[in-house]
This record gives sequence, structure tokens and C-alpha cells, in this order.
Amino acid sequence: MASFTSLAHPNIAMIKYWGNRDNTLRLPVNGSISMNLDGLFTRTTVNFSASFPAHKLTLNKRQILGPGLERVSYILNIVREMAGIKENAEVTTENNFPAGAGIASSAAAFAALALASSQAAGLNLKQDQLSRLARRGSGSASRSIPSGFVEWKMGQAEEDSYAISIAPPEHWDLTDCVAVVNAGHKKTGSTEGHALAGTSPLQNARVQDTARRLDICRQAILQKDFDALAHIIELDSDIMHSVMMTSNPPLMYWQPATLRVFQAVREWRASGLPVAYTVDAGANVHVITLREQSKMISKKLNELPGVKNVLTANVGGAARAA
Ligand code: PMV
Repeated sequence: MASFTSLAHPNIAMIKYWGNRDNTLRLPVNGSISMNLDGLFTRTTVNFSASFPAHKLTLNKRQILGPGLERVSYILNIVREMAGIKENAEVTTENNFPAGAGIASSAAAFAALALASSQAAGLNLKQDQLSRLARRGSGSASRSIPSGFVEWKMGQAEEDSYAISIAPPEHWDLTDCVAVVNAGHKKTGSTEGHALAGTSPLQNARVQDTARRLDICRQAILQKDFDALAHIIELDSDIMHSVMMTSNPPLMYWQPATLRVFQAVREWRASGLPVAYTVDAGANVHVITLREQSKMISKKLNELPGVKNVLTANVGGAARAA
């Protein structure tokens, strides 16, 4: 059986996914919108062979056992069943960005795995099927399958909960300047976090209002209206973190430097610069700006106390063969 190598980008959510209606199938309680991050990527090779005694996972040159291997095996087993094969797989994967620090490493990882494993098993899945398969590994991975600006429709069932591209990367020259304030591994992963979302008294209000925020965000992207985008993504990020902070047990991802970046971004915007912040399940701040301003913004971010370094990414393409 052939081996296949794929590449997928992480994505940054502009309207966040937080909470599942089905934790095993990873069916979300709300739709979400993101953009793929060019330049940051996961590259994954999958090889099925009758001579492998078990599935094997190597991440950044180190063999992974335990929960990491189990999560990957879950996807490999779904693929084997779809393809009607019994062979075990060797998965070799590499990231060019720090894992577990709010840069959605699981999104790129499971998007790349869905593509490489299905192709290596002889399947030629369509984009919606790939997005659904990636979703089973990590919800946000469904959004790293299509290109550019992407919306994951929550759907009514398993079959219609997948992501689609709403605009290609070249539609709008946005750049994500990721202010890294903490490159370590986060304390509570998002799988656990989704399961806690419903314990916050604020989650219902967040979910009830999501269709409105999705409409505003989608329109802002389609019309390239930076000001409208800035307001809605900051609101959405703040609402999700309010749910996190008020869940039981509470989750506090922000650090003092996170707040310093928020304040600087708001001051810069008030002075006329196109900047807006958003934060996933970590302390790092994704500062969205226009590509032509990104060098200057990146330099300003680097000068803020507590910012260790700044990664920059333009809008990225779809998961693909590599
Ligand atoms: O795909 P997961 O289970 O890692 O969840 C991602 C959750 C957030 O990054 C906080 C929000 C999002 O929509 O990406």
C-alpha cells in the first residue's frame, strides 16, 4: 500500500468553537469562522503495511505513546474501516511551530492526518468528507481542510457538520502577528475545556448569540471591512474567555502579558492602525492586521514587555499533498 505525505496549516478562529453537543463525534454547539495560517504547517506521512505490529506515531522525531497515540489511532481506525483494510500504520509528523500554546497545533495535525491517512489507505475523499474526518480528531481541524477564510457549519447531524471555504487566501491580505507570551504547553487542553463549557452560566447566552456574530464576521470578511471585523473578533474572543473563566472548574488562559497586548492593540486601533486581537485556548495573542502594516505591528509587539517573540502568518491555503 502506498505512503502519502500531506501538509496542513493551523488556523486562527475569528468566531470561536467552544463546547460540543456530542463530545465523541465532536459536533459543536455553534458554527465558527477562521483563517488558515500560511507559513506555519504540519507535515505528515502515513504508511500502512501488513508488516507493522501496531500503529506507530513519531512527532518531531520522538515516538509518542499513550493518549497522543490513542487519539491518532482513533482516526486511523475510522480510515481502515472506510477503506476495508486491516494493516497498521506508521505516522511521521513534524510541526514548524510550538505545540500546545494556543496556535492550534491539533488543527493542522488532524487535517494533515485525515488527508495523508485516507490517501495512504487508497481512499480519495472529497473535501467535505475530509473535513468531517479531521473534525473527529479535533473540531478546529475541520477548518484546516478548505482554503483561505473558512466557515464550519455546525450542521444538524454528523453528515453535515463540516467546513467550507468562504473566500480564497488572495481575497484579503490579512496577516496574523502571533505575540508569543508563553511557548510552553497549556494546562488544560481544549478537549477537556469543551466538556466544561456547559458548566458556565454564560455559555447559553454565548451560543444563542452566535448566529448574529457569524453573520457580522462573514460579511466583514466578504466586504473587507476591517473595522467591523476588529469589533466582532474581539467581542467573540472576550465572550469565549468569559465562558472559560466562569466554568467549573474555571479556566484562566490569560497572563499579565496577554492583557498588556490587548491594551496596546486597542490604543493602536484608536490611533488609526488596523489591528484587532483574538486568543484561542492559550495565553498567546493573535493580532490580526493588514499585510502592508504587519512588519511595523510585529516590531511594535516585540517591544512590549512579556512578549517573547512574534510569529507572522498570511492567509493560508488548503490541506494538500506535500
Ligand atoms: O479543535 P479544538 O478541540 O482544539 O478546539 C479549539 C478551540 C479554540 O481554539 C479555543 C477555538 C477555535 O474555534 O479554534
